[in-house]
Amino acid sequence: MSLYVLTGGAGFIGSHLADSLLAGGHQVRVVDDLSTGHRRNLDPRVELLVGDIADPALVGRALQGAAGVFHLAAIASVARSNEDWSGTHRVNQTGSITVLDAARQQGRIPVVYASSAAIYGDQGESPIDEAASPAPNTAYGADKLGSELHARVAFHVHRVPTMGFRFFNVFGPRQDPASPYSGVISIFAARIAAGQPLTLHGDGLQTRDFVYVEDVVRHLRAGMEVLHAAPQATVLNVCTGRATSVLELAQALARIDGRPLAMSFGPSRAGDIRASLGNPAAASAVLGVRATTGLETGLAATVRSM
Ligand code: NAD
Ligand code: UD1
Repeated sequence: MSLYVLTGGAGFIGSHLADSLLAGGHQVRVVDDLSTGHRRNLDPRVELLVGDIADPALVGRALQGAAGVFHLAAIASVARSNEDWSGTHRVNQTGSITVLDAARQQGRIPVVYASSAAIYGDQGESPIDEAASPAPNTAYGADKLGSELHARVAFHVHRVPTMGFRFFNVFGPRQDPASPYSGVISIFAARIAAGQPLTLHGDGLQTRDFVYVEDVVRHLRAGMEVLHAAPQATVLNVCTGRATSVLELAQALARIDGRPLAMSFGPSRAGDIRASLGNPAAASAVLGVRATTGLETGLAATVRSM
């Protein structure tokens, strides 16, 4: 049994990872300011330290005795990163450096961290692999790319093993539909459950690579194992390699609901990416893990959880 620290562990992805680690017999300590995460997402066996990820004293204390850190805390809203540029930078990039620095000081603890497909920007319809040139078009994407660069530094200068995961569009139970900038699947599923119509921004033909949260958790855990076996600084996509349009998504949810789809088309979202599709080959080669949950299976589980 080992102790793992999860930053952002009270959030959507982090709380699923906490459940998986507990089920594996590990001890879990979460650092979270509960800004978008919730205590109710956490199993009572989890130790929760409420505070800010950019606070070096708190993070230093939290990492004591840890076998590894999963750094997931961030302000995940792209829209907020554009509005509150320096405020989100403090969390999304300085927060990452704070975690990496604490990992260095506590004896080079391995760090697995969340990056994002947002570092690629808009690169067209072919599947993107890790060798593509990064071109973020939001402050959020720039800070995720900056975090990747500091994670490289952590390994090459300080010998802290790091693995960054460029998540594509993650979905599943506990994704909060509360804000207009929440993940599209959580918004659509909540609206369908409430009998409300869906709004598709633009023509609905924009595509995304939707990956189920349990598959993401398997990538995160395999990444930690790889770092324990072979210290390195690596960055990998977490995706399915399958593109789904927003319109197809709405239709799939309506099929699960069993009622006719009520929807309308609104204006396109400013700066909306037209096509986002990842190539999962490198993750599969390095980790021996693939995202295997089919979209309809994952959607049905998400709808059942509401
Ligand atoms: P989430 O908002 O549910 O989780 C983020 C957690 O971080 C929350 O619990 C929040 O309270 C916490 N947090 C925020 N600011 C903090 C601070 N200053 N100090 C301490 N804790 C703080 O979002 P999520 O979808 O679970 O995202 C997890 C990670 O994955 C984030 O780094 C996000 O950027 C990244 N990511 C998510 C997606 C996706 O599709 N959900 C895609 C790409 C990347
Ligand atoms: C998502 C992530 C972001 C990540 C990026 C990586 C979320 C909330 N955001 O952004 O953190 O950096 O992937 O590429 O997970 N849409 C509608 N109607 C709605 C809501 C959304 O048509 O009611 C459309 C949007 O315009 C967009 C698509 O659905 O075209 C997906 O939107 P969203 O879930 O917000 O994710 P991304 O913008 O892809």
